[in-house]
Amino acid sequence: MIQLIIVLSVIATINAAPTRCCVDKKFTAIMTDVRSVTNGLYVYNVMSEDFDAKLIGINTLVFNPGQSSVPTGHRQVQDFNTKKQYSITPQGCNVSDIVFDLQGPCVPDNAEYLGSNYFGYGVGSLKYDAYRFTLEKTDANITVIFTQGDCIPVLEGVSGVINGVAVDSTYTFTTYEKEIQDRSIFNIPSSCQQS
Ligand SMILES: *[C@@H]1O[C@H](CO)[C@@H](O)[C@H](O)[C@H]1NC(C)=O
Ligand SMILES: *[C@@H]1O[C@H](CO)[C@@H](O)[C@H](O)[C@H]1NC(C)=O
Repeated sequence: MIQLIIVLSVIATINAAPTRCCVDKKFTAIMTDVRSVTNGLYVYNVMSEDFDAKLIGINTLVFNPGQSSVPTGHRQVQDFNTKKQYSITPQGCNVSDIVFDLQGPCVPDNAEYLGSNYFGYGVGSLKYDAYRFTLEKTDANITVIFTQGDCIPVLEGVSGVINGVAVDSTYTFTTYEKEIQDRSIFNIPSSCQQS
């Protein structure tokens, strides 16, 4: 009987979900859709998120391996104060409604803890916690992986339908900074204001 109790308590320790972590309230990272690159579309996104201002800005750049990157002129601004999304291209701007709320900076309560593991090997390894949840008010599921302890997002899978658009992407997050150096990423050009 004593042995059985010890075994059970060991299992409980191994399965204990970590404390749900929170990302920085302002951050910038390079967000790359691995699927696009695999398909030969050499683009990545600089992404800034400000949870206090409720803004997300995404600037798409094209890269030529070994050379510097060039902005494509394709940008996206999501303003969760007005629930509007601005898709900006050199040709103009489209405004659409955002159906879901801004996700908080913390792992959502409805997220299922999938487990923890590590990337890499040895002293260079990166420990992570993985979660999966359904994005509220959408038909999309998100798997997201944060580094253990400092809660840096490193990988995100999004699959389903958001705002009527089918999505199926896997993003890596690299070059993470705990700040937004260039707030012009949130600028909405006057061409967007007409509708
Ligand atoms: C705006 O949306 C229309 C219809 O979906 C599309 O044809 C057009 O290319 C879009 N324009 C921009 C600037 O995204
Ligand atoms: C999202 O996850 C739920 C629960 O696992 C599943 O029933 C549903 O089919 C998934 N939706 C998509 C679009 O993958």
